[in-house]
Amino acid sequence: MTTPNATLQIDGQTIELPTLKGALGPAVIDTRALGNQGYFTYDPGFLSTASCSSSITYIDGDAGLLYYRGYPIEQLAERSDFLETAYLLWNGELPNAGQKQEFDALVSHHSMLHDQMLSLFKGFRRDAHPMAVMVSILGAMAAFYPESSDVADPRQREISMFRLLAKVPTVAAWSYKYNKGEPFIYPRNDQGYAANFLHMLHATPCESYEPSPVLARALDRIFILHADHEQNASTSTVRMAGSSYANPFACIAAGTACLWGPLHGGANESVLAMLAQIGDAARIGEFVNRAKDKTSGFRLMGFGHRIYKNMDPRAAIMRQTCYEVLDELGLHDDPLFKMALKLEQIALEDDYFIKKKLYPNVDFYSGIVLRALGIPTSMFTAIFALARTAGWIAQWNEMIVSPGHKIARPRQLYTGPQRREFAPVNER
Ligand code: ACO
Repeated sequence: MTTPNATLQIDGQTIELPTLKGALGPAVIDTRALGNQGYFTYDPGFLSTASCSSSITYIDGDAGLLYYRGYPIEQLAERSDFLETAYLLWNGELPNAGQKQEFDALVSHHSMLHDQMLSLFKGFRRDAHPMAVMVSILGAMAAFYPESSDVADPRQREISMFRLLAKVPTVAAWSYKYNKGEPFIYPRNDQGYAANFLHMLHATPCESYEPSPVLARALDRIFILHADHEQNASTSTVRMAGSSYANPFACIAAGTACLWGPLHGGANESVLAMLAQIGDAARIGEFVNRAKDKTSGFRLMGFGHRIYKNMDPRAAIMRQTCYEVLDELGLHDDPLFKMALKLEQIALEDDYFIKKKLYPNVDFYSGIVLRALGIPTSMFTAIFALARTAGWIAQWNEMIVSPGHKIARPRQLYTGPQRREFAPVNER
């Protein structure tokens, strides 16, 4: 489909800029030629900038839509499982029965870590945050698989993709076990992806752990909901790092580091910290008022989203999952959950939140589910990173194979001093 050019008039000059129309979503103005004409575009935080073209995930923030390869997230959360979703993200199509079996088997048979990695874990302080450990171990995997640096070789890329997806639950679970002072629990390849992860977290050499199907399914659903989310900060970080053809393990470590921040993947951990800080439903009003007061620097964690301005479709699914898990565990009267629901209700009715289109995001509920699964808050972001690894890998691979690939190199609006002369220290 041809789309009209955009015309930019500046300083008596007329510049014609082509526009491009994707399969869905708004048209984009192709500004690639602007640099040659002496202008850059200015868009801090990339609020209006498409940094790449991609056929993996589509979000319509106003309509509250999230599609992976065209499939609505609700259908995948309801009817698919995480590994099938990962297959879809990587390959563009859902697998048939044989492909699914082969994919699942490959992932489950590569779940062990190189034995020498044990000494890496043991080099950390016991109280190290699991995300600090994950960033390091994922990056260190490049040292164990040096052949993975050949990113031009499709076979090497494929091996790395499987290694990452297969081993990331073990890395995450062992980060936790080390922090807890318990022996590392080896993966069980006869278990599903989420059930095996729960086993590695909760079993000990003295006691096995058999998660109920409802709980394993709830965790699997969290993985599906977090598997990809278009060009968010961490995914863009993975693409940016990978654009130089850096080793894939290093790129995923970079994405993990970005995800760690409280404005991104750290949000569900911050939600529980905030609920603990509120402490009592009677104090919710006080905290809502603080969030509305710009000078306080306080925000209601788990509210608002850069893209979803009406509702986060993942939040609705997670809210439902939250009820299922609390039902299964007989935790209806969990005071924290009750307080969360009260906070949700008050914020949804408040003018400030309505006007600014601040709705609960997926992290608001996922923290409560993870807590009910016996997972400590310090592991929440690690679980997000585990799930997002599927999407990061898909996006990284798509970037590497895209025609006309270029190393990422944003420009800037320089606001520093103009040229000046150096003065020796005794003359300053
Ligand atoms: N509580 C109170 N006020 C808020 C909140 C909040 N949670 N979020 C945004 N606002 C206000 C801002 O103060 C700002 O007000 P202003 O227009 O008067 O200056 C306005 O709403 C817009 O906020 P921005 O930060 O400009 O919005 P942006 O789209 O850049 O940020 C973000 C989105 C970072 C998610 C923000 O809403 C936030 O900090 N939320 C809390 C953290 C959180 O839950 N993060 C999870 C994100 S989801 C994810 O990573 C999966």
